[in-house]
Amino acid sequence: MALKITVIGTGYLGATHAAAMAELGFEVLGLDVVPEKIEMLGRGEVPMYEPGLTELLRRHVAGIEGSSGRLRFTTSYEEAGEFGDVHFICVNTPQKHGEYACDMSHVDAAFDALAPHLTRPALVVGKSTVPVGSAVRLAARLAALAPAGAEAELAWNPEFLREGFAVQDTLHPDRIVVGVASERAERLLREVYAKPVGAGSPFIVMDYPTAELVKTAANSFLATKISFINAMAEVCEAADGDVVKLAEAIGHDERIGRKFLRAGVGFGGGCLPKDIRAFMARAGELGADQALTFLREVDSINMRRRGHMVELTRDAVGGSFLGKRVAVLGATFKPDSDDVRDSPALNVAGQIHLQGGQVTVYDPKGMENARRVFPTLDYADSALEAARGADAVLHLTEWREFRELDPAALGAVVSERRILDGRNALDPELWREAGWTYRALGRPQA
Ligand code: UDX
Repeated sequence: MALKITVIGTGYLGATHAAAMAELGFEVLGLDVVPEKIEMLGRGEVPMYEPGLTELLRRHVAGIEGSSGRLRFTTSYEEAGEFGDVHFICVNTPQKHGEYACDMSHVDAAFDALAPHLTRPALVVGKSTVPVGSAVRLAARLAALAPAGAEAELAWNPEFLREGFAVQDTLHPDRIVVGVASERAERLLREVYAKPVGAGSPFIVMDYPTAELVKTAANSFLATKISFINAMAEVCEAADGDVVKLAEAIGHDERIGRKFLRAGVGFGGGCLPKDIRAFMARAGELGADQALTFLREVDSINMRRRGHMVELTRDAVGGSFLGKRVAVLGATFKPDSDDVRDSPALNVAGQIHLQGGQVTVYDPKGMENARRVFPTLDYADSALEAARGADAVLHLTEWREFRELDPAALGAVVSERRILDGRNALDPELWREAGWTYRALGRPQA
């Protein structure tokens, strides 16, 4: 009999995982405690913007014409417990308010709600990003709360998907990491992932703590790489160097690699910032805080970029934002997403607004979320509208749409042809030829 799978939590991670499991051929039941989300998903609608996810979902959601019918949704833990052989926990682990540590309340609540309904052998698989040591604790809790006792087992299987590429990353992962305590758990996970493993994804088996650490280590490395190049941008600015050329040149060294060396306003989102902070907090609890003090520096370099962007803009408009109009292109933390969590773009927009500037924001997909977080900013329906009458235009999220903007058309509506590229993604020559003053982080002023 084919395994039946439940996916608990239907955010970016869970919704994508549920649809991907159905695509791999399993019967899947997705669960969330928010009824509106479940209703939307049940109609084949995705509560967020993620390229390709709606199509994947609609191929499998039961009741949609032409679908495989393998994917259903519920709010009932009882139904999930009865249905599943393998239960994936995909709830979020945000940063705690006023603390670096990670908030485990959703994970704990999911385990507490599911465990009493596990009456037969089942494998519970944690996917959420958690502090190392959580799996050992949760395995004991599961065995104590589940009627099936030790037959209700735990595995840890961190997820590395990137927003904007969630579908691709889930169906064709570059590695599958599983932390297990038994051969049975490994066997079940090999069955779940037989297709991607068959297609070449490496399957790496380890213990719980190492599996938990792989995720935080990977995100810390990525954050460090970005802050490294942003630190080089600071030095380039002081020394009249060009960080874009520098990144290109060091990136040709295969040991360094070109990816994640894009200097700019830095990293944001629901993962990297909170993951490095939670990692520092956990290392402190373990008495290993010295090992991670460098992450504090990684964090400060990153946050400094936002302040620097504001200063550059203030200088560009003559030393004060009072009475100045600033257009902000981009609100999401990265392109191809509608996620504005800890977005550098919105942070910069907010700071300029607080300093008296009149800020108008445009983003292709993030407007609704941005309005919710920063209702006091002005919003426009297009880049052109946002730029109307602007004393400075800020490019803060590198959507393709912005790279394809016509500098002449934009130049016709602004008050001053002044652009500041916070992502080093526009072509300086193109803008300068059209009469713009182009400035970017870590690059010489022309
Ligand atoms: C990240 C990890 O990449 C993923 O493996 C993990 O599962 C979740 O966290 P994500 O948050 O979707 O994924 O974004 P990512 O593509 O890593 O970008 C993070 C931030 O870094 C964005 O704000 C992006 O703009 C910024 N960034 C990225 C840079 O500033 N420079 C770069 O060179 C690369």
